[in-house]
Amino acid sequence: MVAGYLLENIRQGQPLQLAGFLDDNPSLMGRHFLGTPVLGTISDWRAVEHDAAIVAIGENRVRARIFDDLARRGERFVNAVHPAAVLGPEVTLGCGVAVGAGVVVSLGAVVGDNVILSTNCTVGHHVQVGSHAHIGPGAVLAGRAAVGEGTLVGAGAAVNPGCHVGRWCVIGAGAVVTESIPDGVLAVGVPAQVVRQVELKAEV
Ligand SMILES: CC(C)(COP(=O)(O)OP(=O)(O)OC[C@H]1O[C@@H](n2cnc3c(N)ncnc32)[C@H](O)[C@@H]1OP(=O)(O)O)[C@@H](O)C(=O)NCCC(=O)NCCS
Repeated sequence: MVAGYLLENIRQGQPLQLAGFLDDNPSLMGRHFLGTPVLGTISDWRAVEHDAAIVAIGENRVRARIFDDLARRGERFVNAVHPAAVLGPEVTLGCGVAVGAGVVVSLGAVVGDNVILSTNCTVGHHVQVGSHAHIGPGAVLAGRAAVGEGTLVGAGAAVNPGCHVGRWCVIGAGAVVTESIPDGVLAVGVPAQVVRQVELKAEV
């Protein structure tokens, strides 16, 4: 998906080149995806000539661990913003951010590092999205809402204006968050109710 966003930018004339994928699954070595080769495992990253990387893994904890590890070793990160996404004025995007087709990020929103904004989601005005979060397809974060580090907002879920969702939470698909949600919980339904704890991110 993320490679697809970059390829779409290249097709539109941006001076980018995809060097290849790194993947720790040995059965993928030498295979090609979207015409781009798997060049090795993540530990080979220094050996591959490149300017910047992006961690294209959906699971937030795994993506965060790999991103933090590479960042500590000095890696630089590129953003993959699909050309059919709309970024409003005074938007701040971190690094290593993937933004899908049809995404709208509105005035003054602040999006952290290593975030995935999936297809057709809406990040309203002055919303804050913490690093390593994943906003699912079609989800809506209304104005001045906030989503904490590492949180997954499921497909089609909505966070009402000004509501805060904590760190490392999961908001179920289709939920509507009408009140702020504490750190490290799963909440589902309309209105969203906390149903259980989820493990907070282990220190890396
Ligand atoms: C909420 C969620 C995390 C639960 O996953 P899970 O822990 O594996 O739970 P299960 O699928 O085993 O379902 C457990 C129960 O919750 C219910 N449930 C599952 N998802 C639900 C949702 N989104 N809203 C309300 N109830 C839900 C199930 O029907 C089941 O109910 P039951 O116990 O009465 O039969 C998951 O269903 C979900 O919504 N994930 C979001 C994924 C997503 O949108 N990702 C976006 C990136 S592609």
